[in-house]
Amino acid sequence: IDYSEERGGLQARLFRFMTNVTFIRPCFSLAELPKDGLAEVACIGRSNVGKSSLINALANRKDLARTSSTPGKTQSLNYYKFGDTFYLVDMPGYGFAREAKTKRIEWNKLIEGYLTDREVLKHILLLVDARHSGLENDMMIAEWLEAFGKPWSIVLTKIDKVTQSDIAKHEKFLRGTFQTLMEIWKTSAETKRGIRELRGFLSAKL
Ligand code: GTP
Ligand code: MG
Repeated sequence: IDYSEERGGLQARLFRFMTNVTFIRPCFSLAELPKDGLAEVACIGRSNVGKSSLINALANRKDLARTSSTPGKTQSLNYYKFGDTFYLVDMPGYGFAREAKTKRIEWNKLIEGYLTDREVLKHILLLVDARHSGLENDMMIAEWLEAFGKPWSIVLTKIDKVTQSDIAKHEKFLRGTFQTLMEIWKTSAETKRGIRELRGFLSAKL
């Protein structure tokens, strides 16, 4: 628990509200998705980029979402309900950097169907490892999102592993490449940097 956020006013209320998170269920097909019409935010990104860890950090929980150093842990669309406001959807990760140059990204049918047809999907968070700027498969997804038309942001993960100047360079590159990109969040699930800011953004948007 970050006690600094428990003291006083608006910040504390926001913290309590946004960390009231429950795991709903894994969904393995589009037919299983919730039908209650609640807004959704999707977390997409490469395997191992830190999607599940980010959800834990936002919820201020240690192992609400299962994380692993073995890539490919999350295989379903996993629904987490933040207060009564929105679902954060943890998605299966796409291929490794190593495969990217030789293989085309194969969007799993479930993920593609979800992203293109889901009306209640209000915002897409594309998670990008702060250490790896411009990876081919990340860029393909970003270009797809750029053309797609739904609001999207990039979340740089694992910023505890890079320098401020690396982050600045990465950010400049992304800003220069994508016009429809709303925000770039700089986060670490390890040190919790940037987590409060992202929480604030999500609660304000939804
Ligand atoms: P898949 O479910 O396989 O797609 O992976 P994921 O994107 O959900 O990644 P996950 O959250 O499981 O994290 C992968 C590994 O990265 C784990 O070993 C985490 O501990 C580590 N990790 C995640 N976020 C951070 C971070 O901010 N800093 C550091 N240093 N390590 C992190
Ligand atoms: Mg995961």
